[in-house]
Amino acid sequence: MKVVETIAEMRQVRKELEEPVGFVPTMGFLHEGHLSLVRQARAENASVVVSIFVNPTQFGPREDFKNYPRDTKRDLAVLEPITDFVFMPATDGMYPENCDTRVEVGAITERLEGAARPGHFRGVSTVVAKLFNIVQPTRAYFGQKDAQQLLVIKKMAADLDMDLEVVACPTVREPDGLAMSSRNTYLNDRQRQAATVLYRTLALAQERWSQGEKDAGAIRREMTELIKKEPLADIKYISIADAGTLKEVFHRIKPPALVSLAVKIGKTRLIDNVVLE
Ligand code: PAJ
Repeated sequence: MKVVETIAEMRQVRKELEEPVGFVPTMGFLHEGHLSLVRQARAENASVVVSIFVNPTQFGPREDFKNYPRDTKRDLAVLEPITDFVFMPATDGMYPENCDTRVEVGAITERLEGAARPGHFRGVSTVVAKLFNIVQPTRAYFGQKDAQQLLVIKKMAADLDMDLEVVACPTVREPDGLAMSSRNTYLNDRQRQAATVLYRTLALAQERWSQGEKDAGAIRREMTELIKKEPLADIKYISIADAGTLKEVFHRIKPPALVSLAVKIGKTRLIDNVVLE
């Protein structure tokens, strides 16, 4: 495995890579969720490139960019056996002073996470477009954990005629159901216990749906009641939406529907989702 720190060197390396090339963009502080993406890329491609870049443009002014957890040494150690190249550009390499262009994907970026975090998806789509242009992967791997991000990247790639396949990978969870996330490290013991309410609530929605409940309002009400039983949980949104447009569903659910939620536990904002098929 080799670490590449400049765009120029990454372009040079790319020319020599054996096709097909699998690419996994990350912000580091890697856990099993990230590694499952890298393993899938490894299984499906001749070469594997992973990027580690904590992207400033996707964080709001009051968000955790400065405190975002970082551990490059450990990240490189866990990637070593399954990765060919790790691309770790400097912030001013990716965003020199005169870098003014931004990628805007449209209406799906304004709902859910986009409504709560203005400008977030502009930052995500811009950095991912840049990374795609630099790495030129055959396939790029994204987690279903960030369902809206996955949708935004798929739409960007389609709308801008990018010549690559965006591959969706299932959410990896802790044994008690909590979706793995770098931000879970912010939780103390009591908060970590409380955080299980996200998955319990999604499992309830899944269960009611498979029992035949079709009414979004009824499912949303039951989800709200369950979360409200957890005193440390502060609901930001509970959504049942069309899985393609992310338009909220108020009455009869037509599958596939994305059930997603954002909940604050203390100062930590957690998101998770399931799809009703
Ligand atoms: P990051 O949060 O580091 O996540 C990198 C990739 O890992 C994303 O595709 C995310 O969906 C996936 N992932 C995270 N937790 C997961 C889990 N528990 N199960 C499965 N996949 C999981 O998402 C980003 O970084 C950034 O926005 C990025 C795309 C790199 C652009 O800066």
